[in-house]
Parts: sequence; C-alpha cells; structure tokens
Amino acid sequence: MAQQPFIVGNWKMNGTRPLLAEARAIDRGAGRRSGVRVALAPPFTLVMAMAEALGEVAVGGQDCHAAPSGAHTGDVSAPMLVDAGAQFVILGHSERRADHGETDEQVRAKADAAIEAGLSIIVCVGETEAQRDAGDAEGVVAAQLEGSLPAALPEGASELTVAYEPVWAIGTGRVPAVADVSAMHARIRQELVTRYGEAGADVAILYGGSVNAANAAELLAVPEVGGALVGGASLTADSFLAIVLAAGADQD
Ligand code: PGA
Repeated sequence: MAQQPFIVGNWKMNGTRPLLAEARAIDRGAGRRSGVRVALAPPFTLVMAMAEALGEVAVGGQDCHAAPSGAHTGDVSAPMLVDAGAQFVILGHSERRADHGETDEQVRAKADAAIEAGLSIIVCVGETEAQRDAGDAEGVVAAQLEGSLPAALPEGASELTVAYEPVWAIGTGRVPAVADVSAMHARIRQELVTRYGEAGADVAILYGGSVNAANAAELLAVPEVGGALVGGASLTADSFLAIVLAAGADQD
C-alpha cells in the first residue's frame, strides 16, 4: 500500500448513545496506530456527538441528499453533515442502492453536492452474485464507476475514496478469492486513471464485505487494496481495532 491504509467503520443503522463508549475506545486505540487512517460513519443521530467526542478518528455520514436544503422530508444534506462535524460521507452503498433504488446518476449528484460542501466522499460499487456468476463483475463495476463518480476532483485525490464491496460478500461471512479482489482493484485503478489522470493513481481503493480480524491482513496485502470498509466488525472496539492493527502491521 503506497499510502497510509484507510480503515473505515460503517455502523449502518446501529447504535444509540451508549455505543459512543466503543467509539471512544476506537479513538484511543487508533491514536496508538499512527500509520493507519481510521474513520467511523455512525447513523445521522450520532454524528454530532461522535464528532465532538473523538480526536483521532474522522467522523462521517452514510448518505446525503443532493440538494443543500429544501422540501425533502427525512433527508439530510451535505452542508448539514458538515455542520454536525462530519468530514466525509459514504455514497452509493449497495444497501442504499437496493433499499432506496438509488441510481448511479443520483449517486453522482450526491457526490457533487458533498464535494461542493467540503466533504470527502467514499463511493461504493460492487456486483451481485448473479452478475459475478455471469462473468460480468468487472463490467458492472466499471459501469457503476462511470455513472457514479464525479466528473473531476478539484482538490485532488484526497477528495475521493472508492470502496469495492461485492454485494454477496456484505454481512455474509463470505469473501472473494484474493485473485478476484486483486483483479477487480486493478480494474478500478485503471478506470480511475483513465478518468482523472495522475490524481486517479492516488485515489484510495478500499475492499469491503465481511472483513474481520481473521481475514484483514490477507485482504489488505492485496495490491491496490488501500484499506477496508467494515460493517459488522466495526461495532466493537475489540473487533475493529484488531483490523486497524492488521492494517498497521507492515508499518512497524
Ligand atoms: P460487513 O459490511 O463488513 O458487515 O460485511 C460491509 C459494508 O457493508 O460496508
């Protein structure tokens, strides 16, 4: 990994204030691993409290609306996330795409809005099991990138992270073969360089889907895997810090 590994916890729709104790413990642990960048994306209701409580770990949202404000009941805008202390936002997660019918076009509009508001973005892509079985995985992901990513990165590579998350690996305990992760990450890199030129070579590409303490080291050692987007295993400091430790192992 050329840059510092980036380990992001996605709490999804989990956690009320008592879980901030885990976030604080993660923050303390992350402070002892200076070679690893660590971030957490709690539900909206915890963003402000978590951002106020943590020092080492960046705090972000799991989605935002494409408009800055307006008549959109139940939605949260990118400037609101910034106001709550968020530094980044996850966009286009497969659960958003599946549960809310989010299209690539909508994800791109959100991406543009988030960057405009000063957030960095983590854009998620990944194929379903049927698409992989049909031999379409790389084509599907390339099309998602084409449709979902912002046209330009005005402030450079640090504005964007891509997370490759095969839908069939999320929350299932199944992970792709290392060779498949490697091939997909190489393809994503190629797409990023084609799109953004030199900046595309520096965009971090995370792997996500059933990452845990036992498989993290192997996955993070794959070329072009710049870190991990972690769901279930990010909910406790013990399991999440074990992944952070695995990411930092080659720094010592
Ligand atoms: P998981 O979720 O680690 O629980 O598989 C990953 C994700 O959806 O980001």
